[in-house]
Amino acid sequence: MRADLVEICSEHMTLKRVGKSYRGPCPLHGGEGRNFSVDPDRGIYKCFVCGEGGDAFAFVMQLLGLDFPGAVRYVAERVGVEIPDAEDRRPDPYAGLREVTAFAEEWFVGRRRSEAGLATRGYLKGRGFDEETADRYALGFAPDSWRGLRDAARERGIGDEVLLEVGLLAASERAAEPYDRFRNRLIFSIRDTQDRPIAFGGRWLGPAGRDTPKYINSPDSPIFEKGRTLYLLNAARHAMRRAKAAVVVEGYMDALTLHIQGFENTVAPLGTALGGAQAALIARYASRAYLIYDSDDPGRRASFRAADTLLQEGTHPLIVTLPPGEDPDSLVRGQGAECLAGHLEDAMDVLELKLKILGERGYLDSAEGRRRALDGLLSTLRAVRDPALSDIYIGRVAETTGVRRETIVHEVARMSSVRRERPRRREAARPGASQGRPDGEVAAERNLLLLLLRDSLVTEGSASARSWVARTLDAGVGLEHFEDAGYRALYAALTEAQTEPGTGELLEAFPKELRPLVDGLLSDATELTHPEEIYEASVERLLYRPAERRLREIRREMKLADETQQKELLREQMRIRAQLPETEKTRLALVLPWLERYEPSRLEERQGDG
Ligand code: CTP
Ligand code: MN
Repeated sequence: MRADLVEICSEHMTLKRVGKSYRGPCPLHGGEGRNFSVDPDRGIYKCFVCGEGGDAFAFVMQLLGLDFPGAVRYVAERVGVEIPDAEDRRPDPYAGLREVTAFAEEWFVGRRRSEAGLATRGYLKGRGFDEETADRYALGFAPDSWRGLRDAARERGIGDEVLLEVGLLAASERAAEPYDRFRNRLIFSIRDTQDRPIAFGGRWLGPAGRDTPKYINSPDSPIFEKGRTLYLLNAARHAMRRAKAAVVVEGYMDALTLHIQGFENTVAPLGTALGGAQAALIARYASRAYLIYDSDDPGRRASFRAADTLLQEGTHPLIVTLPPGEDPDSLVRGQGAECLAGHLEDAMDVLELKLKILGERGYLDSAEGRRRALDGLLSTLRAVRDPALSDIYIGRVAETTGVRRETIVHEVARMSSVRRERPRRREAARPGASQGRPDGEVAAERNLLLLLLRDSLVTEGSASARSWVARTLDAGVGLEHFEDAGYRALYAALTEAQTEPGTGELLEAFPKELRPLVDGLLSDATELTHPEEIYEASVERLLYRPAERRLREIRREMKLADETQQKELLREQMRIRAQLPETEKTRLALVLPWLERYEPSRLEERQGDG
């Protein structure tokens, strides 16, 4: 069994003998250098770049997305071992149904290419799909007839019963006979991961009408469960595994367009919200998912729900925001793949995005608002399955809302059946919300100042009053770390009062124009019962924000750079990363997921234990 790993790997890559082992480009992360090494004696492999490693079973599980029994079967087939598998030996009970769906796919594709398909071909062309692409994705046409497919099937000896069972025919009380379900529609073939057609989707090609739904799908059948199927997963799964990421869009057209534009890791649910079983499928191939939904409010809400579902299944969701009125399909066709790639780059971690929106809507301005903000965040906090991610999320929420970690943990643990009042939009219009914009970004500035200010006043004149400000100065927080002009001025005033003691009443030391800001902060009733933690988090955030910004810039510059410049940028990136504390690295790995690929510490760690 051991030597056979070389054989199995060789089916998917070119291996060259180097001494006792074999080396080649890693098919798991799609690398080009020969970093993938196979030890034929021990029957194990290891990639020194992506860190993956294991035995033959692990290899096919990772590369092909098989589960363990599937991997055993796969390997056994190749090494000629018979494994008794009762289920496998039995003939496929649904072979008959599969034959029917295969026949129907062929027939629909044939209609598209026939004379009757002229308008459909024109429609597809107008949407950017040439004939070759239409063939590759088995796009078809269902003619405007009640019995086109039914008659063609009958000629092949396929009766109504099976057609009804897979939902290609429908029956109703009003109709004397069963009739074609798909009529005058563009047909999308829905395939399983073994590339077999199992169901269809159809887009109406006639004029929009009230009684004619724009899209319809095959109903569930013994070979098709809508909730466990994703459109184009059959074509996307290898790319998903390679990129460790999936792109999730709302529908057929978006998914297809993205595939032909090179985003081959794209999948879509089938006309419904993303369900748990679908999210679990994604999690099997990808650790991150980029959600690109419509940019309107319903689209955003749907993307938040999908994000929670993904978190529950252990995939980290990032949300891509498109310009108003665009969907992925229209954006890519209008402005090109590069443009969409740019938006993917700007994808935000779902929690960060929620915090940002809550900030913009004024929820972080008052204690009451922050309390409600927390309520709005609980669904996401509760959904997280990964304990490390949960920890980071709770930390971020504590830092931004000023609510103690323990309180949040407690709330998260509480049964979600406890109904809370939903945050109301109205709040947003509060006057003064823009002053100091306490959104996710400046919340750290605000919290820090709140702490410094309160502490200074409470213990005015005492040594400890000075020590908080001094500590902040010692930590290296300077004026340049403040983004908000008002907060910057306040920090300047605080530090001056610190360095020039004896200026009298601290409050009077503040320049007049700062008084409203100071009063505002002081009248804030935010619970800061865990000051030490919030303090640490805020300082860290201020200190490392420029690093984060520079890392984002580097990513952009990298695209335009030549090879020498790229190396230089990469080195700078590593230098920046090396200077960050562990907590910040962990956080950045979340918000800048592409960083992971270049993270040397992680590689060492994995090589070490491999
Ligand atoms: N959908 C559906 N039933 C509808 C409308 C939409 O099942 N009556 C699903 C489809 O899967 C569709 C997705 O929701 O792909 C998104 O809908 P929509 O934005 O209306 O359609 P598009 O995909 O943009 O299609 P087109 O560009 O052809 O209008
Ligand atoms: Mn569209």
